Amino acid sequence: MSRIEKAMERAAQLRQGATAPPETQRVQKTLSDPEIRPYHTPPPADSTSEIIVPDSPFLINFKDPYSPIGEELRKLKAVLVKLTSGDTFQNTMLVTSAVQNEGKSLTALNLAISLAQEYDHTVLLIDADFRRPTIHSHLGIELKQGFADCLLDEAEIGDVIIPTGIGRLSVITAGREVPNPVELFASQKTESLIAEMKNRYHDRYIIFDTPPVLPFAEARTLAHLVDGVLFVVKEQLATQKNIKEAIDALKGCRMLGMVYNDAVINRHDEQYSNYQRYSRSESSNV
Ligand SMILES: Nc1ncnc2c1ncn2[C@@H]1O[C@H](COP(=O)(O)OP(=O)(O)OP(=O)(O)O)[C@@H](O)[C@H]1O
Ligand SMILES: [Mg+2]
Repeated sequence: MSRIEKAMERAAQLRQGATAPPETQRVQKTLSDPEIRPYHTPPPADSTSEIIVPDSPFLINFKDPYSPIGEELRKLKAVLVKLTSGDTFQNTMLVTSAVQNEGKSLTALNLAISLAQEYDHTVLLIDADFRRPTIHSHLGIELKQGFADCLLDEAEIGDVIIPTGIGRLSVITAGREVPNPVELFASQKTESLIAEMKNRYHDRYIIFDTPPVLPFAEARTLAHLVDGVLFVVKEQLATQKNIKEAIDALKGCRMLGMVYNDAVINRHDEQYSNYQRYSRSESSNV
């Protein structure tokens, strides 16, 4: 049995354990143990970190990295790496969509995991959706202090970063509930904090998961503070009018590309039905 097969078998055994919460198993192990190192994980920096083994069916690199969707995810990642590398590393990006439920959070998470596992990249995924934060629940992390606390000057960024043990992925959860996310994102504090993070973590990808563009203003504000925007469109959800309005609202921001999500790739082939497909455009300013 190969090392990868052993690791996958081990992860499956761990998921079946009785003591873990239903969505996720968190396992205390040393990361130097090759048996439990996740698929394609680069050597970890911290050998005592807690490893998160998510059990969500939507996290492709854990469920089925060789599926068509896994392949599309790798293509998306390769394009993004190309678009963000150059003379200067464009390290900050956000994921958004026109309306709710188009798959922003899962796209942000899958992309972050994929980048952190297969390339020599360190990734910081930030849940900047204070209305419907979900990154913590997909990973089975408790929602304690997070990004909102930092924006409110109640915590330091360094104190709320959670290493996941999944490759070189760290996350910052949304944190405390805030009554006025629009005002918070429009504040000088948000601008200066993002500039500081970009500088402080200049060698890692910083990916923000955000609320949808049409009903809320946060993503529009944040889009001007990051290097690029990844726009998710779920098949048969937003109308063309919705998509156009949302893209118009992001005018002046750098559009990295579009992810066409939850599409039927081949209507005659059951095997591929309901798989997610990613497509992307060339880099452009919208
Ligand atoms: N590719 C997909 N295949 C099947 N179901 C999907 C896919 N992408 C998203 N979903 C479904 O849509 C739900 C919402 O996904 P996700 O939380 O990523 O959306 P979102 O755009 O972040 O939503 P919100 O606007 O509430 O933040 C998921 O829980 C899942 O049930
Ligand atoms: Mg979401």
